[in-house]
Amino acid sequence: MLPAFTVGELLGLATERLTAAGSASPRLDAELLLAHALGVDRTGLLTYPEASVGDGPRESFEAALDRRERGEPVAYIRGFREFHGLAFATDGRALIPRPETEHLVDAAVDDVATRLANAPRAPGAPAIRIADVGTGTGAIAVSLVSALRRRRMDDEVLVIAIDVSEDALQLARENAVGHGVADRIVFVAADLLPHHVDPPYTVVCANLPYVPSGDLPGLAPELSYEPALALDGGPDGLDVVRRLLDALPRTLASDGVAFLEIGAGHGEAIAHEVAVRLPGWRCRVTNDLAGLPRLARVDPGERNGRD
Ligand SMILES: C[S@@+](CC[C@H](N)C(=O)[O-])C[C@H]1O[C@@H](n2cnc3c(N)ncnc32)[C@H](O)[C@@H]1O
Repeated sequence: MLPAFTVGELLGLATERLTAAGSASPRLDAELLLAHALGVDRTGLLTYPEASVGDGPRESFEAALDRRERGEPVAYIRGFREFHGLAFATDGRALIPRPETEHLVDAAVDDVATRLANAPRAPGAPAIRIADVGTGTGAIAVSLVSALRRRRMDDEVLVIAIDVSEDALQLARENAVGHGVADRIVFVAADLLPHHVDPPYTVVCANLPYVPSGDLPGLAPELSYEPALALDGGPDGLDVVRRLLDALPRTLASDGVAFLEIGAGHGEAIAHEVAVRLPGWRCRVTNDLAGLPRLARVDPGERNGRD
């Protein structure tokens, strides 16, 4: 049992332990786990460093620290992770949502909002179909519908959330129900995009596995807690993405667009793959806030009359 009694003392000791255990963010981890054990947010925790910590929360904190020392991610210990302003339930069934994926959600929301502003739907017209391929926790699908709901546009869309993992789909369903958007999302167990889709998708969002297989053993130990199926992208990291590109001509509407999250080292490779596999299509890669290529926007381009 930890000998200290105040918030400040416990944080100091825990930070030392997590530093020794090799955490890349020991102080932050300690703050998040202690706040969780006390049932407060980080601001509340840091405002009162002299507050004493009772036996119950201290025991919970100790158990959480043990797990973190063994390498388990904070998001699995706390059971949730913030993404796009929402709290997503997280556990070993799916990848923990990452902040860089928020960029993809923003791009998809802007695209849908622009379509609706430029061409309002007639009453009774079918919803805009959006695919979220490799939905995992449902982070993209749920955030997208929630953001459109804030703009009163959620009735205009239907999201098809797809994953090969039944476990991930179940977690995605739980998150959709928890955020009250399950009525706008259909969950489908499938390999990428089912091939003959009628009508086609107007927007495809995909954050598929893109870590080169050979890099997996060298990743931080905490990534070993996440499903390999969510990370392993084959020899050069692009195996699954290539198969998705091949499926687009049969599944994407002629005025549609696909937003793909890519590995930071894949900016040139994705443009090459699109040029080779989808002649005449456009691929625009944009950087994230750290200046790394992270998002590829792929569409049929002028070949199908787009400007
Ligand atoms: C990198 S995770 C992304 C999860 C979530 N979309 C996110 O952004 O946090 C990739 C997801 O793709 C799923 N996946 C892997 N291969 C797939 C395939 N061939 N078809 C459909 N989903 C696949 C995995 O099960 C995993 O949930």
